[in-house]
Amino acid sequence: MTLQRTLTSKFIKKTALILSLFSSTVALAKEGMWLPPTLKNHERDMKAAGLQIAIDEIYNNNGTGLNNAIVLFGKGCTGEVISPKGLVLTNHHCGYGSAQALSSPEKDYFANGYWAKNLQEELPCKGLTVTFIRKIENVTDRILNGIDDTLSDAVRDTIIKQRIAQAEKEIATATGMDALIKAYFKGNQYWVAISETYRDIRFVGFPPNGIGAFGGDEENWMWPRHTGDFSIFRVYAGADNKPADYNAANKPYEAPKYFNINISGYKEGDFTMVYGFPGTTNQYISSYALKHVYEIADPISIKARTRRLDVWTKYMSGDRDIFIKYTSKRAGVANGWKKWQGEVTGLKLNNATGKKEAYEKQFQTWANNDKSLPYASTLLPKMKVAAEAADNVVYDDMYIREAVLGIELIGQGAVIEKMLGCMRAGINGSALTDTLKKMAAAQSGFYKNYDAATDKDVYKTLMTLYFNKCAKSMPTYYEQTYKQHNQDISAWGNDVYLKSMLTSQEKLSQWAEKATAADSILIQNDPAYMLYDAIMKLRKEKILPSLNSYNNTMRYLERLYMKAQMTYDKKRDFYPDANLTLRLTYGQVKGLDPDGPATYSYMTTLSDVVAHDNPNSDIFRVPSKLKELHSKKDYGRWGVKGVMPVAFVASNHTSGGNSGSPVLNAKGELIGTNFDRAYEGTMSDYYFDPNRCRNISVDIRYTLFVIEKFGGAGWLIDEMNIKK
Ligand code: ARG
Ligand code: GLU
Repeated sequence: MTLQRTLTSKFIKKTALILSLFSSTVALAKEGMWLPPTLKNHERDMKAAGLQIAIDEIYNNNGTGLNNAIVLFGKGCTGEVISPKGLVLTNHHCGYGSAQALSSPEKDYFANGYWAKNLQEELPCKGLTVTFIRKIENVTDRILNGIDDTLSDAVRDTIIKQRIAQAEKEIATATGMDALIKAYFKGNQYWVAISETYRDIRFVGFPPNGIGAFGGDEENWMWPRHTGDFSIFRVYAGADNKPADYNAANKPYEAPKYFNINISGYKEGDFTMVYGFPGTTNQYISSYALKHVYEIADPISIKARTRRLDVWTKYMSGDRDIFIKYTSKRAGVANGWKKWQGEVTGLKLNNATGKKEAYEKQFQTWANNDKSLPYASTLLPKMKVAAEAADNVVYDDMYIREAVLGIELIGQGAVIEKMLGCMRAGINGSALTDTLKKMAAAQSGFYKNYDAATDKDVYKTLMTLYFNKCAKSMPTYYEQTYKQHNQDISAWGNDVYLKSMLTSQEKLSQWAEKATAADSILIQNDPAYMLYDAIMKLRKEKILPSLNSYNNTMRYLERLYMKAQMTYDKKRDFYPDANLTLRLTYGQVKGLDPDGPATYSYMTTLSDVVAHDNPNSDIFRVPSKLKELHSKKDYGRWGVKGVMPVAFVASNHTSGGNSGSPVLNAKGELIGTNFDRAYEGTMSDYYFDPNRCRNISVDIRYTLFVIEKFGGAGWLIDEMNIKK
């Protein structure tokens, strides 16, 4: 781009920004993941921002709120009910595991997608559950009654644990539902969620990866985005509409509450809400703890994973078999790897530590003069001392986890550890052989997705990293063995992979077939096991004692610091950190800020998808049927003036776990499904900046278009309530 063009476009962006400031009276995007029963405190703000329905419709105590149309999907995603017959919409990446379990080379749902044509074709998903939150209540008084803030955690924890167990039992009995009490505000509050978990869930609609995972890891955590990241399931219930184990006779769950769908679209500045289950955030920690994240933990993970991913990618691109073995593992490892890079970038761009330090200075001045919380003034100095003293163990532990245990073979040492446990417990003879054979056979899942040659290269690069970074703190066994191999990590690696019985299912099973009690000596000398054993002992003896004591100290101080911040900062709107409980966040449809690192509009379209088509790429290959629909502009009632919207960004404060969450308009109608955040905004787990933090969603019109026109499953749409 020429300088002139850059300047002109900057000018246009600035002008647009100024105009939009004048033209809109909408309240600014706001950080916060609010507990549904506390939304009443935000009614005025939400109404000013555009909300058009009563807070009571979003959540109430009578079982008629929208919360009854949202589920915790599986163990860590969100889903929403979109029909009176229990259809649930979530992300493609949240349905991925179920699709994998149901797929085979003959029925490859990743390549071909899956669309049930009727109820009979809906496929049961073993082990999958969804949980509805019926009611949420504050039980702080009951749990914390009479407990002094400064009571040691050891005593406090024991009392609280007993009280929680008792209260959960009573509430479950009284309601006939499940009760789960969790800590909020770092243990300053306790709330109970009263819930029902359904366990007969069936697989209904799943676009092929060319739609549902389009752009793969390359576009992951990025905006603009072109992914139709959705899939469809159905909840089944017993004759009484209550949770039941799978049974062919179960019937679709009759949903008392489901989302109406609005297809009239949105424009920049429109009010939006995301209602779901964010997993973990840490908004209120000190600058000292934050430094551990972005100066130690994130950079080490990124460095080690870059090496691991480089090796995996090299082997995967040369061999389809290795590709299939490693693709799912790779997605998991790469997801964190990329998110943390965005996090570090965002925290730095924002000077998050500097801002925290400035806040801490003011807090300290207040605390020095405050009489209400005598401990307040001591907290920051104590956290500083504790955090700085823990730098080394945090560092060493990260290298152990990400470098040493990033080597799959060393992690497999745990198998021998378990086998030795049996031998030491005195099991012998045929009972021992049977047990060991079973243990070996149980590793088939691991070996199905393992390639020893690939892992050996990972060993070489990660061991080199470990030796470079932890020379002074590694196990003596590592140093000695390294010397025995003339300080040649490569030769050492060849030796380990040649001699270890953990490199393949065959070796392990063959040994187990003939094993006797006397073999314990043999397997204790397995070179991979010795590496495992040495690192675990070092961790247990030299690292965990300090690390655990540091974590306990911080947990105690952070609980008090949380309370002190809430006492000090009377005007601030505090919300509890995410803890995989139901939350609502609100914001507005919004492109990325012109003064940020990049400016993009707020919506992508099917033409953008097609423009990214690359038939030679596994992740950018657009299915031909989709291209056909695009070239004919055959969008049915879902397109707008010849344009098919695909994804959009908004400024809602979301986190991992919000995948699949309903994205709602001012009337509480469904306009999209949340699935990701934009790169530099992933720091919002620690620090939310409305200029940079964006959640990314699939437009509901794209979802409906794919279901009807691509999947030919219009019968599902007939169940839904669709509005203009
Ligand atoms: N980044 C999203 C999340 O944290 C999507 C992950 C799935 N996609 C992928 N390419 N790995 O879950
Ligand atoms: N993809 C994430 C998930 O699985 C949501 C994105 C985020 O972390 O905000 O929950």
